[in-house]
Amino acid sequence: MLKSPPMNGHEIRERFLRYFEERGHKRVHSSPLLPANDPTLLFVNAGMNQFKDVFLGDDKREYTRAVSSQKCIRAGGKHNDLDEVGRTARHHTFFEMLGNFSFGDYFKEDAINYAWDFLTGKVEEGKLGLDPAYLWFTHFEGDDNVPADDEARDLWIKAGAKPERVLAFDAKDNFWQMGDTGPCGPCSEIHYYMGEDPDDPEKNRAEHVNAETGDDTIEIWNLVFMQFDKDADGKLTPLPAPSVDTGMGLERVAAVMQGKSTNYDSDLIRPIVDFVASLEN
Ligand code: GLY
Repeated sequence: MLKSPPMNGHEIRERFLRYFEERGHKRVHSSPLLPANDPTLLFVNAGMNQFKDVFLGDDKREYTRAVSSQKCIRAGGKHNDLDEVGRTARHHTFFEMLGNFSFGDYFKEDAINYAWDFLTGKVEEGKLGLDPAYLWFTHFEGDDNVPADDEARDLWIKAGAKPERVLAFDAKDNFWQMGDTGPCGPCSEIHYYMGEDPDDPEKNRAEHVNAETGDDTIEIWNLVFMQFDKDADGKLTPLPAPSVDTGMGLERVAAVMQGKSTNYDSDLIRPIVDFVASLEN
């Protein structure tokens, strides 16, 4: 499965932060897990939370591009991973989310090109060196409120993805919102085939993306094209400026980069499990 040299979690995090820093993004610390001044949220559930007011146009920063590794808890509310813990190899309620953000600066094309380049570019150039034959890409198929995001599909193909590896899904998978209200938009996910042989036609196939067979092909990164503010009645109002919010699961990418089939065997979690297990002896 692994085509690049194994990389520890710290190095992956640093590569991500540096990649975007070198492309004009301000490196921002993770916020605390308890959100400041946001009654809609109990725990921070995404890297974009600390920038919510910036997306809405109610706050301004001295930068229009940011990158962070945000500590997140998903144990309730809109994004609740609690029920999956112990059932899958890729869910845990606490995790780190790597994210790059644009506040009315770049939009879809640059976000997609950066993601493609960081994932598939050369390890010697600070990127991850993943083989595109293991990657799948998704885009929003559209609904009564928001048209299909064919632009994202075309941009993935232009970036280098094979057309048959770019798939359309509905709002459940490809329209992202942090809560019932607030900034939201169509999204485009990147999934990774965890098997050994990319030429295996039974396993490395479109039907396994967003499927019940979840751990065989896993979502690793979500690019959200922030375009709307959703109110309590579900009404979508365009944001002052189209923006970008992305989220990549550090522990998932660590499992990929270390050739492990479960996040729990990555270097970010395994030592904790081993330590706790040793206490019983
Ligand atoms: N904010 C993007 C995500 O959580 O997937």
